[in-house]
Amino acid sequence: MSNLTRDFFYGLSKNKFLNENAKKWGFKLGAEKFVAGTNLESVTKVIKELNRHGISGTIDNLGEFVSDSREATKAKNEIIRILDRIHEENLDCHLSIKITQLGLDIDQDFCMANVREIVETAYQYDIFVNIDMEDYSRYEKTMEVLQILRGDYPNVGTVMQSYLLRAEEDLDRLQDVRMRIVKGAYKESPGVAYQSKEEIDRNFIKLAKKRLLGDAFTSIATHDHHIINELKAFVREHNISRDNFEFQMLYGFRKEMQYDLAKEGYRFCTYIPFGTDWFGYYMRRIAERPQNLGIVAKDMLYT
Ligand code: FDA
Repeated sequence: MSNLTRDFFYGLSKNKFLNENAKKWGFKLGAEKFVAGTNLESVTKVIKELNRHGISGTIDNLGEFVSDSREATKAKNEIIRILDRIHEENLDCHLSIKITQLGLDIDQDFCMANVREIVETAYQYDIFVNIDMEDYSRYEKTMEVLQILRGDYPNVGTVMQSYLLRAEEDLDRLQDVRMRIVKGAYKESPGVAYQSKEEIDRNFIKLAKKRLLGDAFTSIATHDHHIINELKAFVREHNISRDNFEFQMLYGFRKEMQYDLAKEGYRFCTYIPFGTDWFGYYMRRIAERPQNLGIVAKDMLYT
């Protein structure tokens, strides 16, 4: 895909008007293939089905870049209801949160209080909370929130984006933190991020291997079979325990491969977004891989 097309979809993903209005439209453009419905009932059903196949889940209550404190409080309450549900139904599932949904852009103390309430509730239920990494302008603040929480709670971790030039140095400082390795989903400048696929992939593999040789739990989050195969070989070669890492993919992507990896005996976790705020998330998926729209368009033509 040309950079122009990619930039177009990144631009759409951040468009406030479209993000707001898409909540009222219901799912369009095939988004329902990548979003597990709009409510707790639909997402619970999806998790139960995955759990039946030996796959765990991480739930993302869709929403980000919130600028209204009432909306952030509402999101916090919804997320606590998700934790209650995971606990009540004994689901094999943890939580992924975006802290801009919980007020990071409004006031850092307000956001911190919301995140703390979530992590405290999850701690009581013995549920892990992953703080997703958003765009680079929120990177330092996200790491600050993580460090404060890590002082009080063991059940919290975050994400390292392999496109960041500083990723390796930061990972070295966070060796004891549970970490998800990803390529990175936002458009960043050459001053902070690698721009070419080759460099990003090379760094991903380097970071993942380093983590696999360490002690803390690592989630290898990619749909890239080249990377997955290389890391599977590395794990065999170094006799690394399968309890020390998992593969992760997004809901709706490469389903067969997700089930196959679980059948091969690897820990596998599916990232499951749900809710009405689907637009930004879905536009980023199209920016990464335009076929994600093409597959759906084809389906719509032939069904
Ligand atoms: P990429 O899109 O680079 O594809 C590489 C190759 O894999 C393709 O050329 C193709 O051969 C194959 N492939 C990929 N998708 C395929 C498909 N659907 N069907 C067939 N072949 C396919 N980002 C972020 O910035 N912060 C975060 O917190 C997270 N969190 C997160 C969680 C999870 C579970 C995942 C999987 C991803 C994220 N991301 C993320 C997104 C991540 O940074 C990245 O943008 C996407 O995963 C896309 O990169 P991939 O590594 O999947 O492969």
